[in-house]
Amino acid sequence: MTENDFMPGDYQNLPKNGKVSWKAPSNIALVKYWGKRPVQIPANPSISFTLDTCATTTSVSFERKEKKDNFSFDLFFEGKSKDDFKPKIQTFLERIEKYLPFLKEYHFIIQTSNSFPHSSGIASSASGMAALSLCFMDIEKQLFPSMEENVFHAKASYLARLGSGSACRSIKGSLVQWGNHANIPDSSDLYGVEYPFGVNPVFKSYCDTILLVHKGQKQVSSTVGHQLMHGHQYAQNRFQQAFDNLDKLKPILASGDLEEFIKLVESEALTLHAMMMTSMPYFMLMKPDTLQIINKIWAYREATKTPVCFTLDAGANVHLLYPEDAKEKVLEFIKDTLAEHCENGQYIHDKVGEGAIKINT
Ligand code: DP6
Repeated sequence: MTENDFMPGDYQNLPKNGKVSWKAPSNIALVKYWGKRPVQIPANPSISFTLDTCATTTSVSFERKEKKDNFSFDLFFEGKSKDDFKPKIQTFLERIEKYLPFLKEYHFIIQTSNSFPHSSGIASSASGMAALSLCFMDIEKQLFPSMEENVFHAKASYLARLGSGSACRSIKGSLVQWGNHANIPDSSDLYGVEYPFGVNPVFKSYCDTILLVHKGQKQVSSTVGHQLMHGHQYAQNRFQQAFDNLDKLKPILASGDLEEFIKLVESEALTLHAMMMTSMPYFMLMKPDTLQIINKIWAYREATKTPVCFTLDAGANVHLLYPEDAKEKVLEFIKDTLAEHCENGQYIHDKVGEGAIKINT
């Protein structure tokens, strides 16, 4: 699909009011998106596990209004009015208006909440933008009931991308790929697609325990981090590596070769952070506890041969990835050895999920 497929038809019979609600999951990238060009086009392809427990639920109530020269919305986060999120939503609405021209016809009340604790340091922009995009698509579907499922999902992902790049991978499950790649049919820079190749069952129930190392504000936002890939000395090699890693991942995902999976995933995580440390200005998002956890994972894996590994997103938290059949052992390991490195001993158990769902209002 191209941008044209997402252009709107002529609207007639706009409903007077209504309410829609969606729950969208977070995702964790195996091959990372880091670097982009306008507007929200990734410098390299990426792939992620869709998560299950960590999710945002958003409901949008809409009411026709008289004046149509501006966007009009109220925003509530966990029941409280949240004005500091408004500029981000305003920019998002400006970016997506071209594809959803009914947006200025309504006053919206957007109510959103996360399943994970507020200030856990888990980015909610992916699940948040995905849930909001699905709500808007749901309204569009009321105008065009014959819209096909695949267009609905691709356009929701397209819109979510314009809110936050990684959000486009939070619509469907369980493995989502985003970014043009010559060897991946139907891959696109514009939206995420369900991974089209064979995936060993071991990955369908993979576990992800998020170790909350640092819950505070990050020193450098993802948006700034992406920008620092422009003119970065190692950028071109890094982008090529991501393309190559997607090729390498194909037989690994098909066979369930966990040894190779671990090597690729951990290398991706450390490369992402190496890019941050070699940006100008350079920065570091890992904390001492992040490194202690990584070392403990390596020692534990060596000693027990348990196929547990880590990945990182743009922060200090560690995602511990392991197959479901290792769960019992790994939970002991977390409790006994890793929890002490988490802020207030906090961690969240999650697993691979099936994608966003509509909530009946
Ligand atoms: C490190 O999607 O948060 O998590 O497009 O600026 O909103 P924006 O960035 P964002 O970047 C995520 C980067 C990452 C890797 C990944 O999820 O692929």
